[in-house]
Formats: sequence, structure tokens, C-alpha cells
Amino acid sequence: MFKTLKYFTVSDKRVLVRCDFNVPLDEKGNITETFKIEQTLPTIKYLLDRKAKVILMSHLGEPDGKIVKELKMDKVAEKLSEYLNLSVAKADDCIGPEVEGAANNLEAGEVMLLENLRFHKEETDGNMDFAKKLSFLGDIYVNDAFGTCHRNNASITGVPQFLEHCMGLLLEKEITALDRILKNPEKPMAAIIGGTKVGTKARFIDNISSVADYVVISGLIAKEIAEKNVQFKYPEKIIVPTGDLGALDINEESIKMICEVIMRSKTILWNGPFGKFEEKNYEKGTLAIAKAIVESKAFSVAGGGETVEFINKHGMIDKFDHVSTGGGAMLLYLSGEELPGIKSLA
Ligand code: 3PG
Repeated sequence: MFKTLKYFTVSDKRVLVRCDFNVPLDEKGNITETFKIEQTLPTIKYLLDRKAKVILMSHLGEPDGKIVKELKMDKVAEKLSEYLNLSVAKADDCIGPEVEGAANNLEAGEVMLLENLRFHKEETDGNMDFAKKLSFLGDIYVNDAFGTCHRNNASITGVPQFLEHCMGLLLEKEITALDRILKNPEKPMAAIIGGTKVGTKARFIDNISSVADYVVISGLIAKEIAEKNVQFKYPEKIIVPTGDLGALDINEESIKMICEVIMRSKTILWNGPFGKFEEKNYEKGTLAIAKAIVESKAFSVAGGGETVEFINKHGMIDKFDHVSTGGGAMLLYLSGEELPGIKSLA
């Protein structure tokens, strides 16, 4: 079975926490959305309340093993300092004698953030020497990076081989919510799947169709399915918007049809906006779907980068029962795949 944070006495221990602080940035490297950082705060506060020495690590962007100025973790450290109301020290690297010294000198109740893990190519290579070096920084390893659990990265699957390990509160929360969808959904259940590409979603559509009663897909996905002749196990459950499948927004008839499905459902999973939602003129359909979900009494889960950005922009994050921090990780989990990061915590 998986251990959770509550299993450990963390006071005075160096607790090395893998977070997913891979937040969206603008062209100047400023953080444009803090959702993932905020979601990790309960674990950090839990550790601080119990006087742990907290060492946080994450990747940011895709620096490909090189130091990229705009992808340094300083801005994340600033945000964390703000949220936690204490000074979060930022290390200049994530491995090596200096960082080890800094970790050893941490006092109980202090927090340090390591530099971007992907400045070292060994992270994405899943290199075990690199994982071992990271493990020198902690006494206990906590994985709270649900969004990265589908990656065989050193900090995800390597470090737990060297340290006692457990799930963080966010990872536990994600799995509980997604398992409720997969294993025990109150029926009827609807899955609303927007976005543009069927490639990453075909297995997800098939797996979710085995539990959902209605599977609404976007026009663009439906178009691709038809063009590529993709076959599904439960075609009778799939609902497609009417009219032009390539339209920039869904039409009134489709909005009505999808909202009716939502109102009829007791469990709703939503991944992916519809049409060219990023332009105000074409956000009507996606906004109507979001509003219908939060107004319904159903247990509601949303996830995926663009979906989270959309509901955050419209101030609806708190109105969903669960908003997942995972994009690819959530899709794979809901496709029925075992995520390497979770497997490594067994
Ligand atoms: C994400 O943003 O989905 C996660 O942080 C994983 O990032 P990656 O796709 O760059 O591995």
C-alpha cells in the first residue's frame, strides 16, 4: 500500500518534496498562473507546522539540460515566500556539495527551493547517479507532483529508491478524486472532452467510456476520428456537436444539448475547451459548458492545462469539486495506465 505523509514523524527531518511548479510563463519569464503552486501549499504548510526542514524541487519548462535564465526558479521562490509569509531560500543548483551544505544547515521550519531540475539532462534521462545525488539532500522523500508522475524522471522514479518515501497531500487528493471517477462514479456520469487532437485522447475516450454514460467530444476530435476511421468500444455513448465540426465555436443547438447532458448527470469529468475558446468571440460554448457544470449538483472534476487556464480566468476554480493539476498525467491515469511516479511509491 502507499504511505501518506501522516505515516512519518517529520519534525527536524530534512523532507525532500518533489513538486510540480511547471507554471505558465509569459515571454519575459513572469508567472501568469499560480494554480499549481497554490495547490502544493497544504503539503508545505503541513510540514512546516510539524517543524520539518523543507526542501522543494521541481522542473520548469523544457531547458533540455542547459541553464536557461528565464527558466530559473527565482520567481517561484518569490511566490512561495509570499504565500507562506516567510523567506524561501533559492539554491543555485539542485545537486552538489554547496546545496548539500545548505540543506544540512536548514533549521526546523525553514524552506529551501532547489534550482530547476531540468538544467541537468540527467533528470529527464532518469539517471540513477543524479537521483542518488538528489537523495543526499533529504531524510524522507515526498512526491506531490501529480502532474509529472507520468514521467520517468530521476526526481520522480529514481529518488524514492534511495529514501523512505510517501505521497504528499496533493497527490493523495488527486488520486482520491480521479479514483472516484474511475471506480465509483455516481451515475449517470458524463465525460466532456474538448481540445483538438484525438492522438493523445483515443485511449482516454475508450477507457472513460467504460464508466461514463455520455461522452461528449469536440467537433475537431470527431472530425479526426471520422477522417482516420478510429474505432471506439462504445460508439453509442459518444455525443458530437451538430453543424460544422471545424467551427470556431459550438452552435446554440449543441450548447443546449451538452447542457442537458450535464444537468442529467451526477458525475462530470471535463477535459479540454471547445473551439477557438481563447478568443473572446468564440468562448461562448466553453463558457456555457463551464457554467452548466458548476451550477449542476454533480460531483465535478476538471483538468488539463487549457481547461484550468479557462476556468481560472473566469474565477470558477473553487466551484469545481476537484481541479486537477495534471494535464498528460491526468489523461494517462484516466486511460487506465499505471503512472511510473505512483508505482515508485509502492
Ligand atoms: C505538465 O505541465 O504537464 C507537467 O509539469 C509535466 O511537464 P512535461 O510535459 O514538460 O514533462
